[in-house]
Amino acid sequence: MDRIRIVGGERLSGAIPISGAKNATLPLMIASLLTEDTLILDNVPHLADVGQLQRILGNHGVDVMIAGKRPGEDPNHGRTLHISAKNIVDTTAPYELVSRMRASFWVLAPLLARMGVAKVSMPGGCAIGTRPVDLLIMALDKLGAAIEIEGGYVIARARQGLRGGEIEFPKVTVGGTHTAVMAAALARGTTVIENAAREPEISDVADCLNKMGAKISGAGTSRIVIEGVPKLHGARHAVLPDRIETGTYAFAVAMTGGDVLLANARPELLQAALDVLAQTGTTVTPTNEGVRITRNDAQLSPVDVTTAPFPGFPTDLQAQLMALMTRAKGTSHITEAIFENRFMHVQELARLGANIQLDGQTATIEGVKHLKGAPVMATDLRASVSLVIAALAAEGETEVNRVYHLDRGFERLEDKLSACGAAIERISD
Ligand code: UD1
Repeated sequence: MDRIRIVGGERLSGAIPISGAKNATLPLMIASLLTEDTLILDNVPHLADVGQLQRILGNHGVDVMIAGKRPGEDPNHGRTLHISAKNIVDTTAPYELVSRMRASFWVLAPLLARMGVAKVSMPGGCAIGTRPVDLLIMALDKLGAAIEIEGGYVIARARQGLRGGEIEFPKVTVGGTHTAVMAAALARGTTVIENAAREPEISDVADCLNKMGAKISGAGTSRIVIEGVPKLHGARHAVLPDRIETGTYAFAVAMTGGDVLLANARPELLQAALDVLAQTGTTVTPTNEGVRITRNDAQLSPVDVTTAPFPGFPTDLQAQLMALMTRAKGTSHITEAIFENRFMHVQELARLGANIQLDGQTATIEGVKHLKGAPVMATDLRASVSLVIAALAAEGETEVNRVYHLDRGFERLEDKLSACGAAIERISD
């Protein structure tokens, strides 16, 4: 199993290219199930989760071709996928595949909408809370699907096709919104989604679906209206930049001090996080090429932050902010309002010398003068990258174990950081 070794204390300077967003790539790949034609996706990041979804789609008969780079093409600029779901050979997504990646449950909606039937394993337990799928099922029910749960599988049927309906989510859910939009795209009649998630990845998928012939308006607001169409066709779409990767490296630069351009980043995708960063005393400068992050030797100021659905502060940056606040001058409070039990990084950060008290969903972080390197364990995707951020500022050596969590969501993390001066290397046994 690979490990990452970091010797802390180096300032970061230079440029980091931001990859295409994982959380847009996954639903975009899944949307390919809605058409017989080829969907071409550009700027696709090279991640373990993308490979895993490729295997899941392959099981349904989807052919994914990864175009090679031509000489002279920028190796840092994502890959191109040609995805063809011409023949769907199987409408079942088995437990062995779905249990490895929760988002793969979302294949339920396009399989049902196009084939009239789908059987998908419940995603099962997850390291960051129970993460149920009741609202995804509710959305499909509102569109006329007959749903049974049997032997750990959700079986959805709509032999005569889905019909448009009114879906009002009692809670903002990204997966629920993706599910509702994809299913409604091929339903008969009009669907209105109220209290829809407004995450930029929802808009990116809706843009792609509209290029495929769907009629979706209002994506990016809390009310989405979809006029169903009988068929979708092929299209070409470039994945938007990853706002979580952007925020992660921005916090890393704030942690070490230095001056880094996050190339291709779009600041409007993470304004809330950049505002928090500015409050810490870090300088955030939007430029034509991306976002520039600078911090001199001044101390970091503490902050009080609560996670929220977009446009609020993202839960996917909560662990990284906590790592940063371990070195602030004073006391910070971070409240996790999206997922229960998303604090696994706390005890690992403590191993590096952080002073954090947990009370329910709120962490109180007392800034310390020094962190000290230690062996730590990656637990989930975002938690593990928070350990990398802490290690970059810790005295001495930190070894992060179980880095497959990092590989699920961060493309070439050690290359990107070492190119900016970090002492970081991957050790493969
Ligand atoms: C997506 C993101 C994930 C991010 C999360 C919140 C992807 C691939 N993943 O996950 O990185 O952390 O949004 O921004 O895009 N809920 C229910 N019932 C449901 C569905 C959700 O109660 O049927 C609850 C969840 O437990 C959670 C909240 O709703 O408390 C939000 O979850 P949701 O937005 O659905 O997260 P995901 O789509 O799984």
